[in-house]
Parts: sequence; C-alpha cells; structure tokens
Amino acid sequence: MKVTIVGAGNVGATCADAIATQRIASEVVLLDIKEGFAEGKALDMMQTATTLGFNTKIVGTTNDYSKTANSDVVVITSGIPRKPGMTREELIGINAGIVQSVAENILAHSPDAIIVVVSNPMDTMTYLTLKKTGLPKNRIIGMGGALDSSRFKTYLSLALDKPANDIHGMVIGGHGDTTMIPLTRLASYNGIPVSSLLEEDALKQVAADTMVGGATLTKLLGTSAWYAPGASVAYLVDSILNDQKRIIPCSVYLEGEYRQEDICIGVPCVIGRSGWESIVDVNLNEEEQATFEKSATAVRNMNAALDSILS
Ligand code: LAC
Repeated sequence: MKVTIVGAGNVGATCADAIATQRIASEVVLLDIKEGFAEGKALDMMQTATTLGFNTKIVGTTNDYSKTANSDVVVITSGIPRKPGMTREELIGINAGIVQSVAENILAHSPDAIIVVVSNPMDTMTYLTLKKTGLPKNRIIGMGGALDSSRFKTYLSLALDKPANDIHGMVIGGHGDTTMIPLTRLASYNGIPVSSLLEEDALKQVAADTMVGGATLTKLLGTSAWYAPGASVAYLVDSILNDQKRIIPCSVYLEGEYRQEDICIGVPCVIGRSGWESIVDVNLNEEEQATFEKSATAVRNMNAALDSILS
C-alpha cells in the first residue's frame, strides 16, 4: 500500500514519519518543490528503519509526480502555514492555487487515490479539491476534526487528571478558531459523561482551549504545529488503508446531512477502504445544531472567496 505526502515541511514530514514508524503503509513518497528537501527528509527517516524496526520504503522527490504513481492515498499538506497572529483563513489566496495544481498532478498519476486535505483553510481547500477534481465525494476527506478532537481529548484529560486514552470526544464543524464545535455533551471518561465529572466553567474552558488549540501552538512555536497534525493524518490514513471503519470527524461534502448542503465541513464519518463511507448522525440538540449552522455559514463565507477560481 502506497501513500504520497505532498509537502515535506513540518506537517508533511511528520505524517510520513508517523505512517512509516507505525507500519501503516509499505511505501511512502514525500514530494516537495524545494530542491532536495524531500529527498533529504526521506533519507533521514529511512535511516531510522533499522533502529526502529520498520520496513516502509520512504522515497523523496523534488516535484517528480511520476514517483507518486498508483498511490492508494495522497495527503496534501502543501501551502504556506500560518504565522503567529494569522488566521487559517488568511492563507486562502496562496494556498488555493497550490492545492489546485497539486490535485491535478496527483490525479494524473494516481487516478484512483483517496485524497486527504490538510492545507488551510482546510474546509475550503477540501471543497476546492472536490469541485476542481470532480472526484466522487467519498474520496475527498478534509483532516481537521481528527486533530481538533485529539486536542479536545487532551485538554479533557488534563482537566480531569485522567489518562488521555480513556477519554472519548469529538469536535465537529469548521476547522477554525471560531468555527469548531467541541461536543462536550457527548464526551466521556470511560463511558462516564464528562459533564458529570467537571464543573460547567471547567468544561467551557476545555472547549475554549480546544478551539484555539492550533493558535496557541502557533504562538508558542512561531509557526503552525506538526506533531499532532502528523499523528492525526496517520490515524486517518490507517483507518482508510486498513479498513478500520473508525468514526472520525472529517470535513466532507454534505448533501442534506446535518441540514447542510454544498459545503465541506466536519461531521463524524465512518472511515474505511473506500474513503469516508457514511456520515454518523449524533442527533445534535437544538443549541448544538444552531452552533453548527453558524459554523457552516462562516465556512460558506470563506468558500465565497473561491468563486472566481471555480467559475
Ligand atoms: C493546526 C493546523 C494544522 O490546527 O491547522 O495545527
């Protein structure tokens, strides 16, 4: 099974490393436009194989898409990352052109690939990829919800002082500081609703910290985060390639689900070998549905910036 990662920056390289070290695919191709960069990162990673005990072949290439041929999954991380003080949305102009040309190049060599979009603003880039490629909707998946959910669970585990792996929870809606929706009502610690374990104020703080989870890191690091995004991509790719059918919140094209249409936005999806296979309805209450609608409006406003590109 072959995975291509486009963009060998912090996020792309960490995706490749996570996929290789977790033995999720037999071959990973890392592609970048910067001369020698992907080759260097790939070789460095390959030299960890004997010590870490994995056999994934990691190939680096400077923009030679023929090396990506017949990939089962392609992850698009290319584009500029945000800097402190920037929103993900401010990246739209530059990243739209990049993502569009990457998607064309990828499909010329891997017409059957499932595409995972990571570039920001992620929901809008996912929508653009879908509209520009005309691929079946189930093969285009925006990775944001997996990451946001991992941040949500981390903050819950810190607030509860309980092991992170015993926490369950999802974040739906847009992948933006003001558009994501941590589903606090449905989060649990080993099946016990967190709402019965934490005070309202603490729960609100967890949700607020989750929503600015990426921005907090951007401020600390001076650029966008990579360990959690890379791990989240690997988690998603594993569910695809190994047909795990995990429920992962992903940005997918809605046609009436969650009362929205003609938009890509985060909802819980069953992820398996054919991409996103179905959408899970978690029966939002009225307040959650209203928040979801607000989030969808914000994402839709963002998508309007694509009008000239799509027309
Ligand atoms: C983040 C970027 C990857 O949330 O969107 O860290």
